[in-house]
Amino acid sequence: MADFSRRRFLQSAAAAGAFAAPAAARFAAGAHRRRSPVAIASANGLQAVELAVRRMTEGWRPVDAAVAGVELVENDPDDDSVGLGGLPNEEGVVELDACVMDGPSGLGGAVAALQNVKNPAQVALKVMRHTDHVLLVGEGALRFARAYGFPEENLLTERSRRAWLEWRERRSARDKWIAPDENGEHGKEWFQQFKGKTGTIHLGAVAANGDVGSCTTTSGLAFKIPGRVGDSPLLGAGNYCDNDVGTGGSTGRGEACILASGGAFVVQQMELGKSPTDACLEACRRVVRLTKVKRLLDAKGRPDFQVQFYAASRDGRTGAAGLYAGKYAVCDEQGARHVDLAALYDEAPR
Ligand code: GLY
Repeated sequence: MADFSRRRFLQSAAAAGAFAAPAAARFAAGAHRRRSPVAIASANGLQAVELAVRRMTEGWRPVDAAVAGVELVENDPDDDSVGLGGLPNEEGVVELDACVMDGPSGLGGAVAALQNVKNPAQVALKVMRHTDHVLLVGEGALRFARAYGFPEENLLTERSRRAWLEWRERRSARDKWIAPDENGEHGKEWFQQFKGKTGTIHLGAVAANGDVGSCTTTSGLAFKIPGRVGDSPLLGAGNYCDNDVGTGGSTGRGEACILASGGAFVVQQMELGKSPTDACLEACRRVVRLTKVKRLLDAKGRPDFQVQFYAASRDGRTGAAGLYAGKYAVCDEQGARHVDLAALYDEAPR
């Protein structure tokens, strides 16, 4: 992990009694014993967590169940955050990122800046299972997907194409594009929903026997510079799991999560004894502490962006937290539902 200082690590480890027993032993002896599979996801993953739990009940490996769940969202043309219909880069081309991690084998796979293939999480699974590599990008990732028979298609939908055109027309008073009339076909409010948008789905899955797997998939930051890669395909940032501990992942501003090594940090906090919710809150505090430049702070000195973290422990507890309020999705023996995030700040950034 990137920059956890020795002093902080020793302090938190000592506080949590982390050296008393290795993680596997502590979790095995823990009071929280698994009875049925559990899945946690970002709020756009309500159906995804339900399907993931169903698949694990049928005996699927958690990582395969997680990918099956997020595929529902990747295939949905009306969801502009991932897969088909994801918002494109500044040239109007959809570039997708995803990674998967498998607890029992400790292996992971990822693709980044993948064009024309709507299921990058499935391609990431192939990278994990058929190569000795972890991450393929761009043209190499596309050729790899093609070799495994993934169909190629234009991932821009009518809605995402129009959003991109409107973004291009509005972005500068100095270029040759004419800004649309704010009272025209789409008013300012319609366009506001796409500004600075980072849509993503993370899904962490825990089987009844405590095996874990996880996945994150995204179209990344709307209208990004071509080639920009966020946290989602980076193991340790947007997604991580450790079969002795649990899963951790992130959605929101990817740059902040990368700089905080978010996913790995969440898992490490659970290993040190924190509950899933507290581990996520600690990751949020870490993002706040590491966000120092003025252009990223609001009038109150708080980060002017949202980041959410999600965690599931191998004994089946789940929790999530954001800098600001929001929801997440969970499915366990009580069924699939939305739950409030724990949040550092109640109000939206100003
Ligand atoms: N968290 C998604 C991204 O920043 O690309």
